[in-house]
This record gives sequence, structure tokens and C-alpha cells, in this order.
Amino acid sequence: MKDNELITWSSKLSCGIKLIDNQHKELVALVNDMFNHVTGDYSQEAEYFSQIIHKAVRYIKVHFATEERIMLATKFEGYTEHKKKHESFILTVVESINDFKYKRRFSLFYFTKFLKDWVLTHIAVMDKKYFNYLRYIASRKTNGKLSITLADVNRKVS
Ligand SMILES: [Fe+2]
Ligand SMILES: [Fe+2]
Repeated sequence: MKDNELITWSSKLSCGIKLIDNQHKELVALVNDMFNHVTGDYSQEAEYFSQIIHKAVRYIKVHFATEERIMLATKFEGYTEHKKKHESFILTVVESINDFKYKRRFSLFYFTKFLKDWVLTHIAVMDKKYFNYLRYIASRKTNGKLSITLADVNRKVS
């Protein structure tokens, strides 16, 4: 995959939970939109970045909070480790925003590339762990669909 190649949503990124899939799709759309605004012109990029970044941070925080709630509610063992990854990511994003604010250094391209690499690896590695866990504890309903009820959560899984 080329550095500035846009992300195409595929079933590989999907976990089957509509809420999470939709949030991940929004993140992917955001990264793609950011790539489409890489022009190499500092003032153009800076203007775009200052408009988009607050929305982006909000998105990301809502998404992390959703995942963390699901992991807690389903008693996922990897919760603490996962939450730590989310937190360190937010810290890095905040650092980049500060670099931008105080004009230390800023490149929309590198920031977007960092975001893209992180989002893709995180979904494929960390998020996948709880996707698999959810699939594991879900029970099959009469309509053949997997779903998780309180009973599934409270059932002991070995
Ligand atoms: Fe995620
Ligand atoms: Fe996550």
C-alpha cells in the first residue's frame, strides 16, 4: 500500500457490530478526507487541519468510549491493555496538535499517515481481539444471528 493511498473499507475491517463498524467507517472516511487535503501548501493545509482536528478528536474519543463500554460490559480480559493503547494514542494526537499550535512542526501528510497506520493496525490487531471474544461469547439466536445478551455476559467462559 502506498503511503498516501486511500483506505478502502473491506470486510476484513468489519466486526459485525453495526455501531462499531459505522464508527470505524467514519474514521476511515476522515483519514481519506485528510489525505485529499494534502496539497503541500502550508497555509491551505493548516487551515484545513485547524477546522478538522476538533471534530476528529471528538470522533475518536466517542469511538474509544464506545469500545471501552462494550469491553467492560462483556467482561473482556484485555480491557486494561486496550484502554492503555487508546490513551497513548490520544496523547500522541494531542502532542501533534500542540506542535501545530505552537508552530513547532507540522505536516498534514505525516500526521494523516500516522493516523492511517494507527487506525489500520489497531483495528486489525487490538480491536480484532475483542471482536473475536464477542463472537466467542455470543449465542446464536433462532434467526441464526449472533447476539449477546446479559446471560451470555454472565455465563462463565473458560
Ligand atoms: Fe476501534
Ligand atoms: Fe480500539
